[in-house]
Amino acid sequence: MTQTEQIQRSLDALRRQFAHELSGAGSVAALEPLRVKYLGRKSELTNFMKQLGTCPADQRGALGKALNLFKTEIETALREAEPTLSRRPTADGADVTLPGVPTPLGRLHPITQTMRSIVDCFVPLGFEVAQGPELEHEWYNFDALNIPAEHPSRESFDTFFVDVPPGAPTASAYTGLDAAPSAGRQAGKPLLRSHTSPVQVRVMQTRKPPLRIVVPGRVYRPDPLDTSHSFMFHQVEGLMVDDHSSFADLKGVLTYAMSRLFGPSTVMRFRPHFFPFTEPSAEADIACSNCKGGGCSTCGRKGWLEILGCGMVHPNVLRAVGYDPNKVQGFAFGMGVERIAMLKHGIGDIRLFFENDLRFLEQF
Ligand code: PHE
Repeated sequence: MTQTEQIQRSLDALRRQFAHELSGAGSVAALEPLRVKYLGRKSELTNFMKQLGTCPADQRGALGKALNLFKTEIETALREAEPTLSRRPTADGADVTLPGVPTPLGRLHPITQTMRSIVDCFVPLGFEVAQGPELEHEWYNFDALNIPAEHPSRESFDTFFVDVPPGAPTASAYTGLDAAPSAGRQAGKPLLRSHTSPVQVRVMQTRKPPLRIVVPGRVYRPDPLDTSHSFMFHQVEGLMVDDHSSFADLKGVLTYAMSRLFGPSTVMRFRPHFFPFTEPSAEADIACSNCKGGGCSTCGRKGWLEILGCGMVHPNVLRAVGYDPNKVQGFAFGMGVERIAMLKHGIGDIRLFFENDLRFLEQF
């Protein structure tokens, strides 16, 4: 038998041995030792390759081919075995190739989503986000906003007052304030803020103009629950103060922001109104997107949807925070988040937001 014939035979034996060992491989990890054994530096194949040089020249071509064929066969077999092996159940019976069980993903509440998209409309105009306490002093919620005690307009802000038990920490401790809000003034009774406007006062007290803020937050009013009223709801407040802001700026800022919120073709109008803390005051409407101003049930046949309250900051409010109304002026606005969310999504009942029914919440 020639050297070549001997090698050919050994290759055949090796093939059978390899096939046998491969069929016994139980995992992908078992493939690497096989590769090392049959193709590695110390393998018979490498050994035969080295012998090629000593072979008679006329047999070298055929032998070389045979060795290369053997090599490709083994490589292919190993490569093809891999996906099959990785698909096998593990020892404890788990099939690791089954599709995974998705982890349920949470999502933002529709009110949070709406509140964030409202805030996002003002941020490009240089407004920054400010926040204040929900448990508030009477002074911030009313007096500083030009709503003195006994003033009839307090009635339009029906309020939850909070009983502080005798011996409990003072209201200041509840709201994180350690001193009376302003020299010589009484903080008054603690209450759940009935609007986000008290945050205007808090920000102005601690900062100098120019300032531009938006204030998202929860507010409370003891309204009986119905399709459009809830004792807790959300507002986004806005305030801009500097030495020249005018009602035209107020209209410009709000028209721009509402067109971002409701779409570029949004039509807006401003109607005279009264708020104690702004003068002049206005309410702003957008043309009903449902009937385009024609009048339908969404807008109560008016063609317009009331969206927000606004006005130029009242000089008394500027005085209350220590600003000089002859030097600075500004405007403020406030809007109800639930109302806007209901308009945007065509929701007819405010209570849906707070019932936590997943069939409702998962639609957003
Ligand atoms: N605070 C007012 C309300 O709750 C809204 C408002 C804010 C109006 C700022 C004018 C300026 O109704």
